[in-house]
Amino acid sequence: MDKFVINGGRRLFGEVPISGAKNAAVAIIPATLLAKGKCRVDNIPEISDVRLMFKTLEYLGASVRLIHPGCYEIDTSSISTTEVPGMYAQKMRASYYFLGALLGRCGKASVAMPGGCDFGVRPIDQHQKSFEALGARVNLESGRISTDAKELKAGHIYFDVVTVGATMNAMLAAVTAEGQTVIENAAKEPHIVDLANFLNLMGADVRGAGTDTIKVRGVKEMHGCDYSIIPDQIEAGTYMVMAAAAGGDVTIKGVIPKHLESITAKLQECGATVEEFDDSVRVAAEGRLTKCNVKTMPHPGFPTDMQPQIAAMLASCEGTSIVSESIWDNRFRYIEQLLRMGAQIHVEGKAAIIEGVPYLKGAPVRADDLRAGAAMLIAGLTARGTTEIENIHLIERGYEHVVEKMTAIGADIRRVRYDEPAALGTSAV
Ligand code: EPU
Repeated sequence: MDKFVINGGRRLFGEVPISGAKNAAVAIIPATLLAKGKCRVDNIPEISDVRLMFKTLEYLGASVRLIHPGCYEIDTSSISTTEVPGMYAQKMRASYYFLGALLGRCGKASVAMPGGCDFGVRPIDQHQKSFEALGARVNLESGRISTDAKELKAGHIYFDVVTVGATMNAMLAAVTAEGQTVIENAAKEPHIVDLANFLNLMGADVRGAGTDTIKVRGVKEMHGCDYSIIPDQIEAGTYMVMAAAAGGDVTIKGVIPKHLESITAKLQECGATVEEFDDSVRVAAEGRLTKCNVKTMPHPGFPTDMQPQIAAMLASCEGTSIVSESIWDNRFRYIEQLLRMGAQIHVEGKAAIIEGVPYLKGAPVRADDLRAGAAMLIAGLTARGTTEIENIHLIERGYEHVVEKMTAIGADIRRVRYDEPAALGTSAV
């Protein structure tokens, strides 16, 4: 097993390139099933969630060929099964996209109940409702979700909650359904727009992605295409917070600054300088930053996937900050780890009240999930002394070359092999 060892207190300087968006890639990879041909997809991040998506596609009968790092040719012309076993599906949430994509392609799909980060209950009722609105039957039995339709027909879908996954799945299933499907109260995240752009290049007719009403006119045939995935909003935001928290001057390159506005606004409120350029943002900070309040909201609000990282920064900012979580029931488990580092935080329901301490102290901690792990990286950078982070495979689900990228901007981080069983508990996946 490996862990990360960080010696804190170093300021960060230089440039960090941002990889392709994980949450776009994990939808676009299954979406290639709709093409019945070859798609060449570039800017795919080299992370474990993507590797698992490729393995699942190959299990279904597709072939995946590396063209150059980050660029793959995916050939889905022959598919031998529409069933995704638990060994793939249970390791990640995004395996539910195989339901929408296979339903759209073959009229049926069966996927073992998806796993993923543990933030409390993660229902799939809105996914089910979308498929049923398109005329499919959905059956939840023996730990599997199965769906099938004689013929998919356009439908009207009104989501009870704003959901990224169900919005994407509704789009995947609707692109070949006869007639015009209307999806209301749709999620507006950048990866929704990216999936719509990819589907349209494959011959689909999807309009309105990025607004709360998406219209999908069904087409008979889809075809292969060349596509490049957008930069990862959350990876970029994580490096922005690292730079602000550790201090220094870092340019985060290859980003879409518009996607980062909610993060930029909070860092500026805390006293950091954030400058936007065409495809980069520069974050500079000097001395101790001050408190701010953060409430997570669907896009364009402050992303829940940045909540642990900003809380880790606020733990040593001056003053009392309140971080409220409005998407997930239980996304504060990482706070126990920050407390080990001397943070003063207490959780009341869906809010964390953070009394900023002058500095955190290095300690052995663990990554409870992907973004909780990113929060540990930030805490370790700002802490005095050495922080050792276990369960790093959870961080590597979503951050490409994290040690190399952090080292290049001056962080003192190493990946260290150790043989003892994790003393701090087991992983949440
Ligand atoms: N919800 C329902 N019913 C459903 C689906 C969702 O009630 O059928 C609720 C959820 O319980 C939650 C809210 O709707 O309260 C939003 O859930 P959503 O469906 O948007 O989440 P998701 O699709 O499962 C994706 C990201 C998560 C990110 C959320 C919110 C992927 C693979 N995952 O999850 O990303 O937190 O959207 O933005 O895209 C991460 O990258 O670390 C991560 C966890």
